[in-house]
Amino acid sequence: MGAPLALAAEAFRAKFPALASGCYLASCSFGARAGHLEQAMDRMLRAMHHPGTPWAAYEEEEQALRRRAAAFFGVRATQLALLPNLSAAAFQVASTRRYAERPKIVTTDLEFPSVAHVWLAQQARGADVEYVTGSDPAQWLDGYLAAIDERTALVSVPLVSYRNGARLPVEAIAERAHAAGALVFVDAYQAAGTMPVMPAALGCDYLATGTYKYLLGLPGLAFLYARDAQQGDAPQLTGWFGRVDPFAFDPYRLDFAAGAQRYETGTPAVPALYAANAALALFESVAMEDVARHVGALVQAAHARLTAAGETVWTPAAPAAQGPMVAIADSHAERLAAWLLERGVAVSPRGACIRAAFHFYNSRADVDTLCEALGQYRRQFGLPAQGLSHA
Ligand SMILES: Cc1ncc(COP(=O)(O)O)c(C=O)c1O
Repeated sequence: MGAPLALAAEAFRAKFPALASGCYLASCSFGARAGHLEQAMDRMLRAMHHPGTPWAAYEEEEQALRRRAAAFFGVRATQLALLPNLSAAAFQVASTRRYAERPKIVTTDLEFPSVAHVWLAQQARGADVEYVTGSDPAQWLDGYLAAIDERTALVSVPLVSYRNGARLPVEAIAERAHAAGALVFVDAYQAAGTMPVMPAALGCDYLATGTYKYLLGLPGLAFLYARDAQQGDAPQLTGWFGRVDPFAFDPYRLDFAAGAQRYETGTPAVPALYAANAALALFESVAMEDVARHVGALVQAAHARLTAAGETVWTPAAPAAQGPMVAIADSHAERLAAWLLERGVAVSPRGACIRAAFHFYNSRADVDTLCEALGQYRRQFGLPAQGLSHA
């Protein structure tokens, strides 16, 4: 028997009955709901009807999730830690570094704030945080290359920025960072689920992503990949799940698991764990290259049409510098998003832009609906002032 056929985009969309009406373009904020979530929650609750406690079932689910996630990211299960959110993942990495000899952490204003906040909090431990800024892919790359030096401990790069949908040149940045002896942390939250995300191909030392956006799970869980989990000091935040044997129950012994499990803390959010396992099982029915091609085509089509209509699109025009969403400038983004939602178009406002995000369940018809609705809004209220800048 050959490999099972990968689902096409229409068949994938059919698994999301809620998308039959309306135009859902807010996966950058929260993934769309489908049957896999109800079934996962039902399975989790049914485990509580067992005569004993549900822990054995929950543990099995956790092990299954570790195996699935390892296959999804092309890594070993021992290179993955399960954490409650991406901020905690960033903190665990920050806490393994000392900043006396190499004080610099290089980040960017395109970083999700809570990740940057974790880096800023390291100032109390002697870190010196430097931001790369700019308004186009060449500037971001040049900025990183110029900022990384022999004083750099950590280089932090979002694979895709939550602000403008730009796909950053992580591979080239990682090469320069490694040449300077620095480690690389990648936040892949705005990419994972819409393109292959393989830490080895990116060349990073750490990669973190959470499960409730394009990964189609629920809040409460993030994955932290560590190329070499024993790099640096032991993490500062810990708990029984970080031990060599979590069931040793020895309050006098603080040992750390050999693999990335050493970054773990206490009991995981079980509903999020079930949801993530079901979502990753759903991803096993698609080919990530097909997903990336489909999403890329929708982003390019939306970008071209919106630009031609006179919109200011913050997302770079070059396909290689695009992620799964387009950011459209508007100084009254909340008002515009509310107006679109009343007409069945869900987008996500952030600051002075609305973000329209595409997944494998979106279609060309969604691009049409967005462009037509936006056109109607502009005819009614006019285009926003030109020159709005996200920098
Ligand atoms: C790029 C990126 N990183 C991180 C987060 C969230 O981080 P946390 O899991 O700590 O809430 C988001 C949420 O919008 C995001 O877009």
